[in-house]
Amino acid sequence: MTRHISVMPARAIELLNVKPDGIYIDGTLGRGGHAGLILERLDQGKLYCFDLDEEAIEESKENLKDHQNVVYIHDNFMNMNKYVEHVDGILLDLGVSSPQFDEAQRGFSYRYDGPLDMRMDTDASLSAYNVVNDYEEEELARILWQYGEEKNARRIAKKIVENRPINSTFELVEVIKSALPAKVLSRKGHPAKQSFQAIRIEVNHELDSLKHFLESFDEILNVDGRVVIITFHSLEDRLVKYRFRELSSVHDDLRIALRPEEVEKAPYVLLNHGDKADEEEISNNRRAKSAIIRGIKKVYGKDC
Ligand SMILES: C[S@@+](CC[C@H](N)C(=O)[O-])C[C@H]1O[C@@H](n2cnc3c(N)ncnc32)[C@H](O)[C@@H]1O
Repeated sequence: MTRHISVMPARAIELLNVKPDGIYIDGTLGRGGHAGLILERLDQGKLYCFDLDEEAIEESKENLKDHQNVVYIHDNFMNMNKYVEHVDGILLDLGVSSPQFDEAQRGFSYRYDGPLDMRMDTDASLSAYNVVNDYEEEELARILWQYGEEKNARRIAKKIVENRPINSTFELVEVIKSALPAKVLSRKGHPAKQSFQAIRIEVNHELDSLKHFLESFDEILNVDGRVVIITFHSLEDRLVKYRFRELSSVHDDLRIALRPEEVEKAPYVLLNHGDKADEEEISNNRRAKSAIIRGIKKVYGKDC
């Protein structure tokens, strides 16, 4: 099975500033790469790990078996407030892990032939098969356009509807290709990449989970607590950037002059303005190429 190489591990840990006795959440456990680094820094503290994918949890249990102070939760990170009342830091490393991508049976990849699945949570009822074969043409076009930023969304949606039923990832790739003009097909990059991304986001409600999290993490984050998020495409990064800006809309230098009721409106400070991986990391891990990491720190509020 493909190994997952964690993205920007040192920067993530630096931004999270793990306190040995703190309570932390890794909302996207994957194979436990970042979680292991957090656990190494904990002494009396505790780490709660979430993943929608049961396989990821089982493998991480094995990878992290030397650590005691870790709790595994098979659920969406957007539900974290149901399990934990107060935390000192939360890490999200969004999207799909390499083992998910590279296992043909999971149906995430246009590179391998497999069933149209793409569910992170294999208990979920909606799969890529349902999206591809059951959605109205209009709705499909909207998803391809909004979540894949696919310029030929309408043409692709039309071809998909004409060619139903579509049963496998390779069949879908062929249908997508047949909808695209030669000029687009000759460009660098896989012609089905954006459509696959869009369908995956729809199947796993990825943007809804992120939005819900961004609106609710404040309820459980202690003062001095941090949230660090790694995103892999502009739709996710935009959501994080605007929410972080909204929560910290006062420049640090001005904060000292604010009246308490004004600080209340901007209870956070930005820890950075979106860092990218360096060339060396990108040359060792192609997933790092599109990654952006952002952090925010809570400076005002009541301790949860
Ligand atoms: C990029 S991988 C994380 C890799 C991990 N940081 C590491 O270093 O090994 C993302 C993981 O998050 C999970 N995931 C994505 N969205 C999720 C959500 N909303 N709730 C819970 N888990 C999610 C995926 O199943 C996948 O295992």
